[in-house]
Amino acid sequence: MSHNRPMTMPSAVSKTLLEHADTNPGSPAVNFQAEAPPTDAPPIDAPRERPMTTIAATAVQPDVIPRADTKTATDSSRAFSSTLGDISCLNPRMQCRDVDVWYADKQAIKNISLDIGRNEVVSMIGPSGCGKSTFLRCLNRMNDSIPSARVSGSIKIDGQEILDKHVDVVPLRARVGMVFQKPNPFPKSIYENIAYGPRIHGLTNHRTELDELVETSLRKAGLWEEVKDRLDQPGTGLSGGQQQRLCIARTIAVSPEVILMDEPCSALDPIATAKVEELIDELRTNYSIAIVTHSMQQAARVSQRTAYFHLGDLIEVGTTEQIFNQPQHRLTEDYITGRFG
Ligand SMILES: Nc1ncnc2c1ncn2[C@@H]1O[C@H](COP(=O)(O)OP(=O)(O)O)[C@@H](O)[C@H]1O
Ligand SMILES: [Mg+2]
Repeated sequence: MSHNRPMTMPSAVSKTLLEHADTNPGSPAVNFQAEAPPTDAPPIDAPRERPMTTIAATAVQPDVIPRADTKTATDSSRAFSSTLGDISCLNPRMQCRDVDVWYADKQAIKNISLDIGRNEVVSMIGPSGCGKSTFLRCLNRMNDSIPSARVSGSIKIDGQEILDKHVDVVPLRARVGMVFQKPNPFPKSIYENIAYGPRIHGLTNHRTELDELVETSLRKAGLWEEVKDRLDQPGTGLSGGQQQRLCIARTIAVSPEVILMDEPCSALDPIATAKVEELIDELRTNYSIAIVTHSMQQAARVSQRTAYFHLGDLIEVGTTEQIFNQPQHRLTEDYITGRFG
């Protein structure tokens, strides 16, 4: 199905979409909200706790917590990565290797390598300003919209390189959708919020098909029963939690393979948060999900793998259980036990 979806589209179409996107920042063609750099972020050039050079297979790191029962220095996946743990997974949907991002002359993330598996939720945790959002934005080239940003390395989806400048970001962003911290429905009806993407991507041929797609997407986002009688009312009239599920439904409507979520519950109350978390768990059956969260409880509840970032480095990756119960790196342990961040 969508694996082989080409990442190019007729240039006239993509030009129109991009023009539209330029004037409509809420458009799914770009669906981008520039995120202001966090004011409490540590300076990126602050002294680092240890040099993050590539570790020789036999080297002993002072920050590695000695444990008899966990893999450390001999893991073959670390030949190209200074990250502790296995950055690869058995059935990868996306493969990121040696990704660097610079904002002008400041490096925000360094040499990040990480797979995002099929049918899994990967959570990204770490102190504010450590590069989680920057990394997430690389996965559908949202950083392209930031003039000072430069991205290097390799990011593949189903084996296709996405950092290549010839890749059209419009279909890419349908394959790799994004849900933001603050729900951002379009100033349109609930129906139109969902129908807009499929229409501009030409996914349906007639109205009945579109109606069905709107219903299916809202059902998958667990919102159909709550809104089916008021599809013509503005999306912005829904509660915060409903708006976030509307945005998730809007992302689903264009048949993504990967859904990126940047702190999707930070603006929600605990009940709405629980609903979105439940939804994330259900969505895993059909999609790969990468979620940035500042809530360690949330990471523990929703994800199968967890990646710990610190000052632009990916310090450690592992199963969520291992990261929270047996972190291998001192920095990970300090963060999850509340000593840092
Ligand atoms: N648009 C931007 N322009 C310049 N610097 C940025 C921008 N976005 C983020 N940064 C900087 O990059 C670093 C990583 O930020 P970010 O990815 O937002 O971290 P996180 O999501 O982990 O809080 C921070 O030092 C931040 O100030
Ligand atoms: Mg962020």
